Amino acid sequence: MKILVTGGTGYIGSHTVVELQNAGFDVVIVDALFNSQKEVVDHIAAITGKVPEFEAFDLTDNKKTADFFKRHSDLTGVIHFAAHKAVGESVQHPIKYYRNNLVSLMNILEEMNTHGIQHLVFSSSCTVYGQADRLPVSESAPIKKAESPYGNTKQIAEEIITDTVHVSKLNAIALRYFNPIGAHESGLIGELPNGVPDNLLPYITQTAYGIREQLKVFGDDYNTPDGTPIRDYIHVVDLAKAHVKAIQRMVQGQMKQAFEVFNLGTGNGYSVLEVIKAFEKATGIKINYKIVGRREGDIEQIWADPSYSNRELGWKAERSLDEMVASAWKWEQHYRQ
Ligand code: NAD
Ligand code: WQD
Repeated sequence: MKILVTGGTGYIGSHTVVELQNAGFDVVIVDALFNSQKEVVDHIAAITGKVPEFEAFDLTDNKKTADFFKRHSDLTGVIHFAAHKAVGESVQHPIKYYRNNLVSLMNILEEMNTHGIQHLVFSSSCTVYGQADRLPVSESAPIKKAESPYGNTKQIAEEIITDTVHVSKLNAIALRYFNPIGAHESGLIGELPNGVPDNLLPYITQTAYGIREQLKVFGDDYNTPDGTPIRDYIHVVDLAKAHVKAIQRMVQGQMKQAFEVFNLGTGNGYSVLEVIKAFEKATGIKINYKIVGRREGDIEQIWADPSYSNRELGWKAERSLDEMVASAWKWEQHYRQ
């Protein structure tokens, strides 16, 4: 069985390709290399011993997308990671985000329909919940108005998929990721942020490596035990494994509805200061940080109720926060060297 992984040289995509290959799937990657490098294909092959097929083009180009699907009409399913993901940039350049994230999805849905490819796994995000009224947050929690155009692309994408499933043979699973961090244990693949990182973990590892002088901790006056915001950090390898479970569920005809949604989190919340302390303990390196004002748009706290995913997907996040930060540090060192 062959799976198309869009965005497969990216951070989560590359880890998922490894897990798919390890589970016996063949993989073809499509990635325009907007936020990743072609060498990732070699690194995947070094880990698994199998070279995934790779094509570099932009999935918003409907002609190229149609041509690709004509040549790959034997696909079993599609895992669609390809998207722009920088929240702040999406506020500055909303059209860039709406066009890229939504046109690519619509092109893929049309081609899947044309070629009778039934199974789609879509990368959604816990950002759709905003600041949830009740914690932990389950899949039935209400969707809040998006804080950014990026977040809105995830909400609209879920709606586009819902409407398409109603009128076609498409089966779809949206996976709502909490905060993916860490890297493959080999240190060969990991997160490669463009320029100055927005996210906490790459900022910590780059500060530890000496690329950034000081980490700014955005606010310690939240209503949390140590005053810093709480998130559900999840190891990217655990996250990747859930995609294999989702594809298997579809292929094996185990879905309860034609469109299903699952939270991918650990169920544990950690504060920013707890993550810094875990990193310092795991690596023995002190992080130079300073408390500054809150970052606009940040929510106070969120963590997942993963019980539905645990039960229905037969999946559970297994890796600890210590393993997450240690693997992120191993990757940063390998990459820089
Ligand atoms: P990433 O930037 O590392 O990977 C995305 C890949 O998609 C990149 O390699 C990029 O070159 C490619 N791409 C983007 N637009 C494309 C297009 N039009 N055509 C072809 N390729 C294109 O990001 P990631 O962290 O691996 O995220 C993967 C998915 O998961 C995204 O949809 C993202 O929104 C979602 N997500 C990420 C997080 C997170 O914190 N990393 C959290 C929730 C959801
Ligand atoms: C985590 C915590 C920051 C950087 C974002 C997107 C979300 C999803 C995951 C895609 C927060 C604090 C961070 C820094 C800090 N992506 N922080 N100093 O904001 O929870 O989620 O990525 O779907 O949509 O919004 O993740 O890693 O940016 O922040 O103090 O330099 O770390 O304030 O409390 P976030 P993050």
